[in-house]
Amino acid sequence: MTNKYMYFIANWKMFGDLKSLKSLDKVIKFSKSKNIGKGRLIYCPPYTLISSFWKKFKNCQIDIGGQNCHESENYGPYTGFVNSRMLKNIGANYVIIGHSENREQGENDKLINLKIKNALKAKLKVIFCIGETLVEKRKKKTQSILTKQIKVGLYKIKNKSNIFIAYEPVWAIGTGIVPKSEDLLKTIKFIKSKFKDKPPKILYGGSVNPHNIKILKEINNIDGFLIGGASQSSKKFIDIVKKTYT
Ligand code: 13P
Repeated sequence: MTNKYMYFIANWKMFGDLKSLKSLDKVIKFSKSKNIGKGRLIYCPPYTLISSFWKKFKNCQIDIGGQNCHESENYGPYTGFVNSRMLKNIGANYVIIGHSENREQGENDKLINLKIKNALKAKLKVIFCIGETLVEKRKKKTQSILTKQIKVGLYKIKNKSNIFIAYEPVWAIGTGIVPKSEDLLKTIKFIKSKFKDKPPKILYGGSVNPHNIKILKEINNIDGFLIGGASQSSKKFIDIVKKTYT
């Protein structure tokens, strides 16, 4: 059983509409109960729902984040995009940057670095995603990939106190497969070793659900979880938090 502050971040990806708001009532109630332990809840809905989530969560301790942002710190002629200032302005305190689903669309480490810098300037906390693909894992390149992602992604960022690193192996996302505990422990240790000073908080993401959380929570160097599919069910999301603290 853990007794430390743990972060549970719901990444709704491109799911959810106004009807989904009702399902949050359960989570709001849970967030005010003792069962939450030292859990901190953060929801990252699609942009279209941030404002509605903010209104819903106004009187509770649940935070809101964006799922990505444009790299420009200023407003500008970028059709279809939203920058970190806009996220902050609408009530978000967090933003996910560098998710593999965005990297697959062509985002590279340099662009991610720029996004992180400007998100920090906008006073957002950054959930910086890193992780290797299956091919890279098979070629035993996990450590070199993570090293590069961290080195370039966090280039010239001195103050890392508002950065969370989410280790999300691409092969674990949406597949129902999670890394072996000993591998995960080793990789998280490796990520922490990349920081001379106090390392950022490290989250794990990839197929986290109410069943495997019992095993994942035993990995004591993890500071929380980034949860995709299971977070769309309030019941499953609450279950994950509860099981972390029992
Ligand atoms: P799943 O939990 O659906 O595997 O997604 C993980 C993820 O990508 C969270 O950012």
